Amino acid sequence: MKFFIDTANLKQIQEAQSLGILDGVTTNPSLMAKEGIKGQANIIQHYLDICKTVSGDVSAEVITTDYEEIIKEGKKLASLHPHIVVKVPMIKDGIKAIKYFSDHHIKTNCTLVFSAGQALLAAKAGATYVSPFIGRLDDTSTDGISLIQQIVHIYQNYDYQTQVLAASIRHPMHIIMCAEVGADVVTCPLDVILSLFNHPLTDIGLAKFLADYKKSQ
Ligand code: E4P
Repeated sequence: MKFFIDTANLKQIQEAQSLGILDGVTTNPSLMAKEGIKGQANIIQHYLDICKTVSGDVSAEVITTDYEEIIKEGKKLASLHPHIVVKVPMIKDGIKAIKYFSDHHIKTNCTLVFSAGQALLAAKAGATYVSPFIGRLDDTSTDGISLIQQIVHIYQNYDYQTQVLAASIRHPMHIIMCAEVGADVVTCPLDVILSLFNHPLTDIGLAKFLADYKKSQ
């Protein structure tokens, strides 16, 4: 399973990259705004900085919703760097645009997916990734992990090549459950990735090993 980091914060991306386990980055307009990145030139420069930091795919989201505009914006984003994946919302014009991008060998991430039917459309259009938002589903008393399982199952039935990218990850058990049901990718905030390290028995065991070593010197 690939690990992406879900942030536009360069320091956090660098920290995750330095662990040697990072496969890519997802951003969205809210995450860019959170970092104070404003204006087209700054946004483009920030995507380039992210692409220089990681060796994997970097999702850059379009902020247009009309087919022709999405194509124009997506082509511009894709031309910035080979790592760029054009992130397109799950709307009719978005699906049409994903089909266009797929036919023109431009990688896409179909975002804001909340149902198996939407995921089926994304796969049929040839999306590289589909992003079901599991945390936001959990927030509405709907089991996000069951949706991941359902999409993985449907894609396997028809050998769709679209990768299931579990998004809106909130805690380490989301990551474990995604791995259990066969998600291709999880995209997580840095603190959730780091929480996978936590186990008190590791800390206690290491402290004892080091103390015993000291005693033996
Ligand atoms: C991923 O591509 C999304 O941008 C992100 O995971 C959404 O997460 P949130 O629900 O925590 O905003």
